[in-house]
Amino acid sequence: MPLVSTKEMFEKAYKGGYAIGAFNVNNMEIIQGITEAAKEENAPLILQVSSGARKYANHTYLVKLVEAAIQETGLPIALHLDHGDTFELCKSCIDGGFTSVMIDGSHHSFEDNIALTRQVVEYAHAHGVTVEGELGRLAGIEDAVNVSEKDASYTDPDQVQEFVEKTGVDSLAIAIGTSHGAYKFKPGQKPQLRFDILEEVEKRLPGFPIVLHGASSVIPKYVDIINANGGRMPDAIGIPEEMLRKAASMAVCKINIDSDLRLAMTAAIREHFAQSPEHFDPRQYLSPARANIKELVKHKLVNVLGCNNKA
Ligand code: G3H
Ligand code: 13P
Ligand code: ZN
Repeated sequence: MPLVSTKEMFEKAYKGGYAIGAFNVNNMEIIQGITEAAKEENAPLILQVSSGARKYANHTYLVKLVEAAIQETGLPIALHLDHGDTFELCKSCIDGGFTSVMIDGSHHSFEDNIALTRQVVEYAHAHGVTVEGELGRLAGIEDAVNVSEKDASYTDPDQVQEFVEKTGVDSLAIAIGTSHGAYKFKPGQKPQLRFDILEEVEKRLPGFPIVLHGASSVIPKYVDIINANGGRMPDAIGIPEEMLRKAASMAVCKINIDSDLRLAMTAAIREHFAQSPEHFDPRQYLSPARANIKELVKHKLVNVLGCNNKA
């Protein structure tokens, strides 16, 4: 099976009331852990690459690793650019074999976001590639994007129809209170998402796939292991799983997960070195790191996304 676009995946997910997991990948162990989990659960997958991941691992290496995972698993897998910020970056990924791209124009004015997104859609659709746009701004920090709380803003449901019609995007990322990174809520703050906004968006765009970024749950088990083994992440708080399940049963068809993968991997490595400080063979600490990724992804596919047995 070759790489697939997200079109058919989203049609099935919308009708079936589940979501596809979009997992960020940076190296071989992460790709293996995710795809081994998906094979055992017979789940479709989106593997996504940020511009930072592309700089770290090299475009060709990542494409070849994902192709190897398809050969090994036989699963429908889409290779997606996460948070593309320019037409040139999106074009380079489309020309280089990606089957889906995100153009994140959320930091531009509404009009400029439409113009940039439309430009990417025209090129992408001419090459059979699907496009995700974004309206509204999530707070949080990643390599390439850093949005302070005061600059974050919820998606305005009154804008979504015009944006989708004028751009021709295939899916839309919206801001309803999720944020990037491991510190999504303040200690003592009750985690909340604006499901009223999601409902309004759903009414204005019936049948149209919605994307949630910043959707890691920051699983306490991994944070506790990190902190028990020399780490310092006392206030890490994520999105409760029941909220993600609710979103997946609504119009949300793609749920982005990166921070949880980082935590699962780091927990295994910290624990390994605390218990076996004499070890220095990378295979000794990357094997449990990969096993933790697999365990985490199986949990997400079955208990959060509901996409097991949907490949
Ligand atoms: O939302 C983006 C992902 O978490 C990627 O993060 O830019 O540090 O690779 P990165
Ligand atoms: P998290 O930081 O919550 O994992 O979000 C990842 C993401 O949105 C990637 O685009
Ligand atoms: Zn994101």
